[in-house]
Amino acid sequence: MTDHTSSQIDHLLDETRRFAPSGEFAAAAVADATLYAEAAEDREAFWAEQARALHWHTPFTEVLDWSNPPFAQWFADGELNVAYNCLDRHVDAGNGDRVALLWEGEPGDERRVTYAELTDEVKRVANVLTGLGVTAGDRVAIYMPMIPEAIAAMLAVARLGAIHSVVFGGFSADSLRARIDDAGAKVVITADGGYRKGKVSPLKPAVDQALADRNGSGVQETVEHVLVVQRGKNEVAWIEGRDLWWHEVVPAASADHEAQPFPAENPLFILYTSGTTGKPKGILHTSGGYLTQATFTNKVVHDIHPETDVFWCTADIGWITGHSYVTYGPLANGATQVLFEGTPDTPHPGRWWELIEKYGVSIFYTAPTAIRSFMKIGRAVPKKFDLSSIRLLGSVGEPINPEAWMWYRKVIGGKTAPIVDTWWQTETGAIMVSALPGVTETKPGSAQVPLPGISIDVVDEDGSHVGNGNGGLLVITEPWPSMLRGIWGDPERFVETYWEKFRAQGYYFAGDGARLDDDGDVWFLGRVDDVMNVSGHRLSTTEIESALVGNEAVAEAAVVGASDETTGQAVAAFVIIKRSYLAEHSPDGLAQSLRAWVGEQIGPIARPRDVYIVEELPKTRSGKIMRRLLRDVAEGREVGDTTTLADTAVMSVISAQVR
Ligand code: WT7
Repeated sequence: MTDHTSSQIDHLLDETRRFAPSGEFAAAAVADATLYAEAAEDREAFWAEQARALHWHTPFTEVLDWSNPPFAQWFADGELNVAYNCLDRHVDAGNGDRVALLWEGEPGDERRVTYAELTDEVKRVANVLTGLGVTAGDRVAIYMPMIPEAIAAMLAVARLGAIHSVVFGGFSADSLRARIDDAGAKVVITADGGYRKGKVSPLKPAVDQALADRNGSGVQETVEHVLVVQRGKNEVAWIEGRDLWWHEVVPAASADHEAQPFPAENPLFILYTSGTTGKPKGILHTSGGYLTQATFTNKVVHDIHPETDVFWCTADIGWITGHSYVTYGPLANGATQVLFEGTPDTPHPGRWWELIEKYGVSIFYTAPTAIRSFMKIGRAVPKKFDLSSIRLLGSVGEPINPEAWMWYRKVIGGKTAPIVDTWWQTETGAIMVSALPGVTETKPGSAQVPLPGISIDVVDEDGSHVGNGNGGLLVITEPWPSMLRGIWGDPERFVETYWEKFRAQGYYFAGDGARLDDDGDVWFLGRVDDVMNVSGHRLSTTEIESALVGNEAVAEAAVVGASDETTGQAVAAFVIIKRSYLAEHSPDGLAQSLRAWVGEQIGPIARPRDVYIVEELPKTRSGKIMRRLLRDVAEGREVGDTTTLADTAVMSVISAQVR
C-alpha cells in the first residue's frame, strides 16, 4: 500500500461520528430492514421479486444461470422492452401527465416533458431509426449535450433492441472515432452544439472529424447516417444524404410504434471506460438484469416516491451514473427529475442551488469533487437559496472525505437529510454498496454495507477475508443482476481483467482498496491499479502516457494520479523531451503545449494538472516505471524506498528538477 493510502486510513480511523435515521424519515422510507433478511434467505428469489416489478412481455421462469462463469445470464427466458418499461407503462397506468423531465438549458431556457410527451417523442425517433435501417443488435453512437433529446435517443435505440454507445460530449474527435470504430456504429446521433460555460461548444464538427480522413486508418467506415439535433445554432458542415436534422425528420415521423419484446439478455448498451491499458474497454450491459437493479437501487437507495419527489442526479449521460440514475432508474420508477445542460458555476456560482430552490428538488445525487469545490467557494453561496425541499443526499464516484460529508449534510442537507455514499462502477451497472436511508445509521466517509442481494468481501492478495479492522481488496463474491456481461469484442480481456486474480475463489476483482472497520463496515480507499479518479471520472495512466508519447516532442512519459484537494486526484505527468526539442523550446512552453495536446487527444478532463519535464524516469531493473516514487514527488512528499531502482540516484535528480 502507498503512503498516501496509509495516511488516509489513519485519518479515517479517527472518524467516530454517527447519524441515526430519524423516526420520521424511517416511517416513510421505501426501504426497511426486512430487505436484508429476505435477500439473505434466498438471494435469487429476492432478485426475481425485484425483477417482477418490471413489465415482462414474457415472464421469466429462470433466475440466474451461472453454469458458465464468469458469463452470467439473468432471467434468460423472459422477454421485455426496456423503453416500454420507462415510458408506455406509466402512460398506460394513467400517469402520462406526470412530468418526467424538468429540463433547464444553461442559458436559462426551460422545458417540461411529461411521460406522455416523452413516449410520443421516443416512438417517433424509433420510427426514424427504423427508417435508417437500425434493427436489433445494431450499434448507435450518441454524442450529445444534456438535452431531452439525448434521453429520447437512448430510449429509442433501446426500444428497437439496438445497442447505444453514449460518448461523453467532452471527449475529443479522436476518442469518439475510436469508440465508433470499436463498436462498429451504424448511426451517430448528435447535436450541432450544446451550451457550456456561457458559450456554445460544438459537437457536430467533432463527429465530422471523427468520420473523415479514414484513408489509411485501415478501419472500415460503418456509419451510414448522422442525426443532428439543433441546439447551439452554431454553423455546421453538412453531408447531403448522410446527415439529417432531427427537427425535420422526427416531428414528421409517425408517433405509432409498438414496443416489441426482446430477450432479457439482449444487449442494451456499451459504455467505454478506462482500464489499465491504453485502450478503453467497451463495457457491455444487457436488458433485464440491468434494468432490474438500476430500478430497484434507485427506488430504495434514493428513496423514490414517484408521486411527490423531485429527483436530481447531476451526472452527464456520458457516464454510467447518467445511464442508471438519469435515464433508466428514474424513468422506470416513473419519477420526476431535473435535467440540466450546463456547468454548476454558469452564469453564477449558485446555479445548482438556484435550480434546487426553483424546482423543489427533494433528492440530490452528486459527486464529492463537486461538493469540495463548493466548500472552497464557501457556504454563503448556497445560503442565499432555499434548500428546504431537500430530504435526501447522495454521493458517488470517489471516496467522500468526512469533512466534505459533514459540510454536505449541514449546508446542503439542513443538518437533517441522510447521506447515502454509494459505491459502484461502470462494470457493476448499479449501486452495490451503500447505506439504506431510513434504515442504516450512517458514518461520514464510509460507504458501509452491501445492498440486500449483493455479496462482497475485503480480502488479501490470496483471496482470504481480512477480518474487521483490516485493509485489503474489494471483491464481489456472487453474481449480481446488473453485472457487466463482457467487454465488447474482447471476452478474454473481460476474464483477465476482472476474474483472473481470484480465479480459485470465483470472485470479481473490482480494482479498489478497502478497509473493514470494527463493525464490518466498508471504507473505500481508492484504486489499487493504474486507474486514476479525477473529479469522479476514471482515467487510465497508460492512456494518457500513450497520448503523450504520441507527441513528436516526447521521448518517454510516465503519468500518476496525485492527490488533489478538490478533484480527489489530479493527473501529473513526467516527460522526457527529445533533445532537439529541448534546445528549441522553453520548458514552460513545452509543458503548456503538452497539456493542450492531451486535451485534444483524449478530452479536456484528461489534461494534466502538472507536466514535469525530467531527464530520466525511475525504473526497476526489469524496466518497470515506479509510479509510487513519482507520486511522492507530485504530492510534495519525501521520496520513499528507492532500493529496487536500477539507478538509485535517479530520484534525487528528478526531485531537484521538479522543485
Ligand atoms: C470507480 C468506478 C459509480 C459511478 C461513477 C464512477 C470509484 C465510485 C465510489 C464511492 C469510493 C468510489 C471506485 C470505483 N468510486 N463510487 N462511493 N466511494 N469510491 O464510475 O467511472 O466506473 O469508476 O469509482 O474507485 O472503482 P466509474
